[in-house]
Amino acid sequence: MNGKFIVLEGLDGAGLSTQVALLGEHLNSNGIHFLVTKEPTNSLIGGISKAALSQEWRTSPDALQLLFCADRAHHLSSEIEPYLAKGKVVVCDRYLFSTLAYGYASGVNYKWLRSINLKFRLPDLGILIDVKPKTAISRLGEEPSNLHLFERQETVSRVRQAFLSIAKEFHLKKVDGEKSIMQVSERINSLVDKFLHV
Ligand SMILES: Nc1ncnc2c1ncn2[C@@H]1O[C@H](COP(=O)(O)OP(=O)(O)OP(=O)(O)O)[C@@H](O)[C@H]1O
Ligand SMILES: [Mg+2]
Repeated sequence: MNGKFIVLEGLDGAGLSTQVALLGEHLNSNGIHFLVTKEPTNSLIGGISKAALSQEWRTSPDALQLLFCADRAHHLSSEIEPYLAKGKVVVCDRYLFSTLAYGYASGVNYKWLRSINLKFRLPDLGILIDVKPKTAISRLGEEPSNLHLFERQETVSRVRQAFLSIAKEFHLKKVDGEKSIMQVSERINSLVDKFLHV
């Protein structure tokens, strides 16, 4: 029997880490065996992607997206696929939709991004935690100057719009991340319970 692959997506600050942890507690309380994992991973390739994200190491936007894909290929073969093959549930904090949304918003060609990602397994259940740019920025504790804040909101807004159209294209379930942590968690739990027939 094959397991179930659940992916949570959204902007930085949407509450992904918070909700993945709460979903883990919920699955635990239902006696469901699962693996919680995230991208970029802690592998060598994930480390290079993180160094590029923090601008500790500079590379081109195309090279960065290929690194995310290489990390994903390794993640699938080393962790996700073996776990699913055992019939378990895998919950992943960010997956290929982040590459599509952030990559597209950074100016990388969408058709190309789509083609290099479509080789990968799609999730059985994909959830987008949607928040307004302002909310995401303030949750990350950033306090940029007014001009900087405006630019920052424009950038984050492009990523949010990309996530919203990707959610339609790939049938991700959209959850309102503006609600309280517990309200968002209840909504996610109910989507997952319905999906897993708990
Ligand atoms: N629904 C919510 N309402 C209010 N605050 C929230 C909500 N969800 C998360 N937070 C808070 O926002 C902050 C960022 O949350 P979290 O780390 O889960 O986001 P994230 O999407 O994983 O971000 P990153 O992309 O940086 O990993 C945390 O301080 C968290 O407690
Ligand atoms: Mg996080």
